[in-house]
Amino acid sequence: MTEYLSYDFKDDAEFINTFDELPLWSAPFGLLLLKHIQLLPNLNVIDIGSGAGFPLMELAGRLGKSCKLYGIDPWINANKRAMQKIKSYDLSNVEIMECSAEQIPFGDNTIDLIVSNLGINNFDKPNLVFKECCRVLNPKGKLVLTTNLNGHWKEFYNVFEESLKQLGKDESINKLKEHQEHRGSVESISKLYTDNGFKVNRHFEEHFEMKFLNGSAFLNHHFIKLGWLNSWRELLPSNELVEIFSLLEQNLNDYSQNNGGLTLTVPMAFIEGEKI
Ligand SMILES: C[S@@+](CC[C@H](N)C(=O)[O-])C[C@H]1O[C@@H](n2cnc3c(N)ncnc32)[C@H](O)[C@@H]1O
Repeated sequence: MTEYLSYDFKDDAEFINTFDELPLWSAPFGLLLLKHIQLLPNLNVIDIGSGAGFPLMELAGRLGKSCKLYGIDPWINANKRAMQKIKSYDLSNVEIMECSAEQIPFGDNTIDLIVSNLGINNFDKPNLVFKECCRVLNPKGKLVLTTNLNGHWKEFYNVFEESLKQLGKDESINKLKEHQEHRGSVESISKLYTDNGFKVNRHFEEHFEMKFLNGSAFLNHHFIKLGWLNSWRELLPSNELVEIFSLLEQNLNDYSQNNGGLTLTVPMAFIEGEKI
């Protein structure tokens, strides 16, 4: 008890390196998760796709020491950063496990709660991940996901599709539609639950907006390049990239001029399933 009274802030480079770097992109989804999640004592918790440690570390702090938390992610460098945070924040109840959620290194019926913030769209085999979650969860254990939904950035994708139409790139239009649909809806994600041993208890939908000056600012934003650009390039023949992106950027800039900027809608959901 009261061990926190001896806390002494150490202003060193290692600590500052792990301080306040959460991407704005992840934050609204994490806040949605933290708003609706049921906090109980003595839980064994897994965060799937814990990356650099969000919302794992925040959840560990909010649940406190009676709960034990594990972050599962195959991404080596992100895990290193997460481990540094465990050290900096002096968290004795968190561990990082470098592996895929397709094979969770726990026995059957050993975990009470699994969370995943922005994980599901990144899993190559979501059905397998859901099956594994069902296996390791206790009966009535919960799997809670937050994710962006189909309809994500519809303003951008409408202009993208329009640009492809203008250039007569029918094959690329079909690929763009498939790319948008991989995000799923509350219904398709609920089916992943019910196909793999869960019932859906609750879901909440919200949306937020991201505003950019215009298409040029958007396409050059470092996080857009890091997180999305490659997935768009892969939809298009490499010898047509310059032609397509030039028109797309121009059309986005015209759209922004006419609409007072480029405001993109992000629909998101919190979905909680319970192991049957
Ligand atoms: C968009 S990031 C989200 C990271 C973090 N949860 C956040 O909210 O910022 C998706 C994460 O899922 C991880 N991932 C992808 N496939 C995975 C798998 N099969 N098992 C566990 N994690 C996986 C990626 O390495 C990445 O860290």
